[in-house]
Amino acid sequence: MSEFLEAMAFRHACKQFDPAKTIPAEEFESILEVARNSPSSFGMEPWRLIVIRNEGMRKALKPSCWNQNQIIEASELVVITTDNNVIRSGTRYVKEMFSRRGLSSEAVETYLGVYKNYLASIECDEVLLENWAAKQCYIACANMMTYAATLKIDTCPIEGFDKEGVEAILDLPEGHSVALICAFGYRVNPQSERKRLELKQIVEYR
Ligand SMILES: Cc1cc2nc3c(=O)[nH]c(=O)nc-3n(C[C@H](O)[C@H](O)[C@H](O)COP(=O)(O)O)c2cc1C
Repeated sequence: MSEFLEAMAFRHACKQFDPAKTIPAEEFESILEVARNSPSSFGMEPWRLIVIRNEGMRKALKPSCWNQNQIIEASELVVITTDNNVIRSGTRYVKEMFSRRGLSSEAVETYLGVYKNYLASIECDEVLLENWAAKQCYIACANMMTYAATLKIDTCPIEGFDKEGVEAILDLPEGHSVALICAFGYRVNPQSERKRLELKQIVEYR
């Protein structure tokens, strides 16, 4: 089996992490690098990752995260947030993200125009903008989880949280929001049997 498929088979949503086991620093940093290298729409990299190591903050977060034990027991806890202000069309940030590609100023202007058009029906609504940014965070999270599995590190993506509660505890700056949370560590129990629909139930050819 390819290393990738082995990692896919190894990965499961780990419910119980061994609190005594710590991910080596360089391995965890390489996981964060995988998020950094993930694709994003127009290359805007809307994600901002907050690694929660403080025990008091983990304890404070747990009730807002459906009291899930992973919040406390995981070796590393990453809250994937987005900066929804900088990605609005017309910001210096957006211009810089296009300019850094080494394009001519005309090409940058063209990109800015396309971006503005694309975002018009999204950025008119704060929730749509947040969701657009969050979608990209899910890609980064998936990449981190599969890569972590190649290192035999377990993960659990966590969407079971009260968004406003978590945002208040983290005291996020205005315009930032939480997309999802991912816990990293080492399993206590063997993974349960995988349940999936058949390929023919989810794929059609036209
Ligand atoms: C976006 C997303 C959010 C999830 N949120 C939670 C969660 O809050 N708590 C949890 O224990 N599992 C969570 N899961 C894990 C799923 O329940 C799990 O992936 C699914 O049941 C399939 O099981 P498997 O990942 O072990 O194959 C989440 C998964 C995804 C993709």
